[in-house]
Amino acid sequence: MPTLYHISDLHFGRERPRLVQAVLEEINARAPELVAVSGDLTQSARRREFAATRDFLAQLAPPVLVVPGNHDVPDWDLIRRLLRPWKRYGRYITEDPYPTYSSPTLAVLGLNSARRWSPHTDWSRGRLSAYQMDEVARFFGAAEPGAVRVVVVHHPFIVHELAMGRGVIGRKEMALACFGESRVDLMLSGHLHIHHSETMAARTGERTLVAAQAGTTLSDRLKAGFPNSFNVIELDQERIRIRIRCWSDDGGFRDCERLDYRRAAAGWEPEPV
Ligand SMILES: [Fe+2]
Ligand SMILES: [Fe+2]
Repeated sequence: MPTLYHISDLHFGRERPRLVQAVLEEINARAPELVAVSGDLTQSARRREFAATRDFLAQLAPPVLVVPGNHDVPDWDLIRRLLRPWKRYGRYITEDPYPTYSSPTLAVLGLNSARRWSPHTDWSRGRLSAYQMDEVARFFGAAEPGAVRVVVVHHPFIVHELAMGRGVIGRKEMALACFGESRVDLMLSGHLHIHHSETMAARTGERTLVAAQAGTTLSDRLKAGFPNSFNVIELDQERIRIRIRCWSDDGGFRDCERLDYRRAAAGWEPEPV
């Protein structure tokens, strides 16, 4: 089965060096088809943090698809934040606002949900825009018919009950309706530093898709008692299997949870493990 590694919230600047090495070794040994990175590459969008991220990504042997998170916009310099929010991300990581990966088995599209400012007092919140949905329709309209369809975006579509007070992505309903029309199967996100997965309907009564959150893979910014983690996802037209790999100081990364989904008439359904 094709395998996708989903890592997130690397937060270089607050990274744990042992974990950096362990993730590199595992991914390069397992050689998945793709590594998806769902944002917050850095802690404070500083040059040295982006350089460390770039060096880490360059050491990954498989193809890599990256989207930014709210921490990848300078938050300590309002002028830079408002006028040139993506300058460093573009210089060190990619200038492509719509990174894609296409093969006969996978069609993956990355979207930027981080914003330079927000109408909320909490500027870490993110949202999607109507013009980004045009790209969703265009990309998946041209996808291989046998490919599993995946969207990568930093902000979450689901919020774990322990992530108290955190909001879902802005314009969630608009995006879900578009994903449903484009027959998206799986959404990968981060931001909360809590691993979590469940199915959700694109619209009430319509087919369901799978939403998967990754924890913080490398950083010491742990939340709600959840360990560092990443997701190993095996997927084809019939099944999506998510294995969560959690870190412990004495055992390294090990499987700590598994969630299986099967395609049914009404979309994706959980399958007892
Ligand atoms: Fe984060
Ligand atoms: Fe974030």
